[in-house]
Amino acid sequence: MLRRQLLRAVRTTELAETAGCSRRCVAASLPEPTAEAGPNLPPFDHTPAPYTGPSKAEVYGLRRQFLSPAMFHHFKDPLMVVEGNMQYLYDETGRRYLDAFAGIVTVSVGHCHPRVTAAVMQQSKLLQHTTTIYLHPEVAQYGKELTDRMPGNLKVAYFVNSGSEANDMAIMMARLHTGNYDILALRNAYHGLSESTMGLLGHHTWKPNVPQGFGVRHLMNPDPYRGMLGSDGKAYAADAKAVIESATPGQVAGFVAETIQGVGGTVELAEGYLPAVYQMVRDAGGVCIADEVQTGFGRTGSDYWGFQNAGVQPDIVTMAKGIGNGLPLAAVVTTPEIAATLARRLHFNTFGGNPVCAAGGRAVLQAVDEDGIQANAAKVGAHLKEALLELQQRHDIIGDVRGRGLMLGVEMVRDRATKEPAGPETAQVMERLRHLGVLIGKGGLYGNVFRIKPPMCLTIADADFLIQAMDLALSEL
Ligand SMILES: Cc1ncc(COP(=O)(O)O)c(C=O)c1O
Repeated sequence: MLRRQLLRAVRTTELAETAGCSRRCVAASLPEPTAEAGPNLPPFDHTPAPYTGPSKAEVYGLRRQFLSPAMFHHFKDPLMVVEGNMQYLYDETGRRYLDAFAGIVTVSVGHCHPRVTAAVMQQSKLLQHTTTIYLHPEVAQYGKELTDRMPGNLKVAYFVNSGSEANDMAIMMARLHTGNYDILALRNAYHGLSESTMGLLGHHTWKPNVPQGFGVRHLMNPDPYRGMLGSDGKAYAADAKAVIESATPGQVAGFVAETIQGVGGTVELAEGYLPAVYQMVRDAGGVCIADEVQTGFGRTGSDYWGFQNAGVQPDIVTMAKGIGNGLPLAAVVTTPEIAATLARRLHFNTFGGNPVCAAGGRAVLQAVDEDGIQANAAKVGAHLKEALLELQQRHDIIGDVRGRGLMLGVEMVRDRATKEPAGPETAQVMERLRHLGVLIGKGGLYGNVFRIKPPMCLTIADADFLIQAMDLALSEL
């Protein structure tokens, strides 16, 4: 262990000296020693480029001085990552980490996936920007290829730049198309941080005290673990009906939900809820919007889209994050009838469908298909979930293990009967995992749910490494 640290220190010194760094800079960039030997990362054939930029301390100083103080970072001692390759990230010292959170569920097919990188580079050399005032082959072909992957009559795509923008647009479409105003959303949901999506989301932690989300009614969350009505999807749907009857004119514009809540802590909606609510919403004149920002592109393993797991067919689907594998790309896909209502006025988005992002988005679709990403999410996700359930048998602090494919959640509680959230313990394990070489996410209203949503090229060996590290970190609590 000591030898490994010494070797790393020598290597870091060499790299830093090449970069003309001071001794202080070298010390600041040394990897933190681990308290004891942990499991070994699976072997991986990639050597990161020597890092020659400013030290981590300098970067942190610049960020604190010149960037918004509202930004938060993971870990007491923030991690600086300077390179990525498939399911791994590298810090400035060249240390490798298993990325089990994918830049918040965004890197779908792998960091710097060769196919995506090549497509982006090739298009960047030809033409980087046009806007939709001119024709461009990439965006037109991308529209076809994306909608080819949608079931039913979801055949028209609008490209935008972020999930918030996609959801803003979906809400506007629902209102324009139905002529109604009220929108139903779920407590514990997350749909973005624009003014209107902030109103949709259901977490006080993300809501500054400003006017937001006019006409949004929040429904009881059909959370099988913590929800007031247990796992009875029909009972939660009855609440939705009561809200329509009591808090709206009886007519609604639409209903929006993630098919598995992401930021809210990987919450799968109670069985039977979505089909029942979709029917009620349609009976009340509204349309149904599926937010697939986290659940799309095969992540749930069993289907390409999360809503297919629930057996529903939405009228509008929003997508972002995994769609671009890290490129600023998002989309709204809907039916020709709903799309037609938006055409009553001009619509324009400067960067939406940008040729570089469109080329990258097309390459993501090809990588999902050619790399067997969905099948891998099903196989490795099932293996991981089984191992997590086994960990739950041995660690009382694990209250619940849930999710599908490579969208998994582990809820930590101090007492399985009272379900008292174990927030500080979750943070402690997350810190320890970082030192063991695993980057994991956390979420949920009480910050007590581990979110395991890695790039979907994760292997069985990676999953086993993650479990060994988690077992060790939990045993140390
Ligand atoms: C389900 C869901 N919808 C929408 C968004 C907003 O996306 P963006 O941050 O790209 O605006 C997020 C972001 O985390 C999300 O998880």
